[in-house]
Amino acid sequence: MQGTPGRTPMPNTRLLVLFGSQTGTAEDVSERLSREARRREVGCRVQALDSYPVVNLINEPLVIFVCATTGQGEPPDNMKSFWRFIFRRNLPSTSLCQMDFAVLGLGDSSYAKFNFVAKKLHRRLLQLGGSALLPVCLGDDQHELGPDATIDPWLHDLWEKVLGPHPLPLDLGLSPPGIPWPSKFTLKFLQEVPSTCSEELCVAGTDPQGPPSELQPFLAPMVTNQRVTGPSHFQDVRLIEFDITGSGVSFVAGDVVLIQPENTASHVQQFCQALGLDPDQHFTLQPREPGVPCPTRLPQPCSIQRLVSQYLDITSVPRRSFFELLAYLSCHELEREKLLEFSSAQGQEELCEYCTRPRRTVLEVLCDFPHTACAIPPDYLLDLIPLIRPRAFSIASSLLAHPSRLQILVAVVQYQTRLKEPRRGLCSNWLASLDPGQGPVRVPLWVRSGGLTFPKTPDTPVIMVGPGTGVAPFRAAIQERVAQGETGNVLFFGCRQRDQDFYWEAEWKELQTRGCLTLVTAFSREQEQKVYVQHRLRELGPLVWGLLDLRGAHFYLAGNAKYMPADVSDALTSIFQEEGGLSGPTAAAYLARLQRTLRFQTETWA
Ligand code: 2AM
Repeated sequence: MQGTPGRTPMPNTRLLVLFGSQTGTAEDVSERLSREARRREVGCRVQALDSYPVVNLINEPLVIFVCATTGQGEPPDNMKSFWRFIFRRNLPSTSLCQMDFAVLGLGDSSYAKFNFVAKKLHRRLLQLGGSALLPVCLGDDQHELGPDATIDPWLHDLWEKVLGPHPLPLDLGLSPPGIPWPSKFTLKFLQEVPSTCSEELCVAGTDPQGPPSELQPFLAPMVTNQRVTGPSHFQDVRLIEFDITGSGVSFVAGDVVLIQPENTASHVQQFCQALGLDPDQHFTLQPREPGVPCPTRLPQPCSIQRLVSQYLDITSVPRRSFFELLAYLSCHELEREKLLEFSSAQGQEELCEYCTRPRRTVLEVLCDFPHTACAIPPDYLLDLIPLIRPRAFSIASSLLAHPSRLQILVAVVQYQTRLKEPRRGLCSNWLASLDPGQGPVRVPLWVRSGGLTFPKTPDTPVIMVGPGTGVAPFRAAIQERVAQGETGNVLFFGCRQRDQDFYWEAEWKELQTRGCLTLVTAFSREQEQKVYVQHRLRELGPLVWGLLDLRGAHFYLAGNAKYMPADVSDALTSIFQEEGGLSGPTAAAYLARLQRTLRFQTETWA
């Protein structure tokens, strides 16, 4: 690594950045932190909280936690086990007395529990003996200039604290431009195509005994890919089935499957063209600093074709850090000037207008800056472009009903912004494009225990509210419970019209006839007035109250996160007041107690 001129080196500074990220923002901020650290010659590692061995924290001198808070005040999925560990009651109050820390939170002030995770973590780290370098940073999505408006000054203060005894001779902004910004990896092209490059390499180096995981996904044959919405429905929704025979994949109702998607062939081709890369060339990758891991599963050697199609998220919407680095790499005066503007604090509104609002992609931006794109050194590809993240889907089938099979319900995401080309969700469109009728199709997947857990005690009734694709986890639960002889299943299902998006109608009817299911439907567009699941809940208030209060039923809610969860919670509290005679505050407390004791669980998605 090149040094910054005139600077006293800090041989012993070891900075650890741990992130909990749901949508990738916390990960992006963490990468930015590590890049800034490298420019300041501070040794830095970045890891997702759940992939860091948490017991090692007692030996860490300096840790920055970057944590998002999800809509309901929950920690992101990739810090859930860390969260459980750090709040164990038996941890001594001196556990972290060697550690200096700082917490950078990412949240949305329009939600009641704004940055709840970051604030709670900050307090807990203090309780465990850690010393806070700074007050917690409350990044806010609602800020008119985005979360960076809060993060930038906080990072400035952070570097002052970290570098306190060893200040830098000059401020490292984007100017003067000569200051080195080393890439994380060096990418070395091979002269020849290696003979050992095969599909198997994508799972090399892992324990072949364990169940499939992110490190070692199962390449599952897709056996069904069928549109289940009627021709006049606005959305293409697919029932997709995989064969998991012999895979070691196992799951119960409430679990989710993670799927690793790929870019389309035409996007890969456009990207290689814009950057002047030869898709058939092979390379090896080496971290510049010891201890920096190469991307999970990336085979070595690897072809550019595979790197771009399976690893680089070229259709994601680039963040500010992308423009910062691109500006640094650009040698074209006009383009560089524009990129610098987008990376500056003053340029954030313009960046939002150009990129964030219309959901412009990395690939489209690169095509807008052709002189810069074609001169990007390949070493920087992995600094510049985030890795494709696996996508989670609620499993919609039970192994007890469909042995060796795993089914999901996928809404194919497509929408229009002011850009001409429609925006398309990467994973759902990739899955929809695969046609098992045309020959074998394999999809990398693994399973994780889900956010929903169903009662283990026999005879506990369940009430499930799942409009639209929200019904998916409940189909798994109903299949599982019916196979185990449980009949107390009440399903509230909502859709637009019974002949367009009434998923599994025949199956529900059959279970109803057998007395295993009570089905309540809300068809929102079959009459003048909208009828939603919460209206049906209210109509059936006495049944709902009786099941919850007298029979100890569990209540589940899944589906679109926008308005439905709040509407259903409101319906429930009214039922508690009307049927149970509770006052407003007591009804709210009753609901909170159901949540605390896991008798009210939700799984929602944007
Ligand atoms: P709509 O599209 O006619 O408004 C599945 O998407 C079903 O959920 C549709 O019938 C949809 O109705 C309905 N839906 C939309 N908003 C809702 C809300 N806030 N609460 C409950 N259901 C809703």
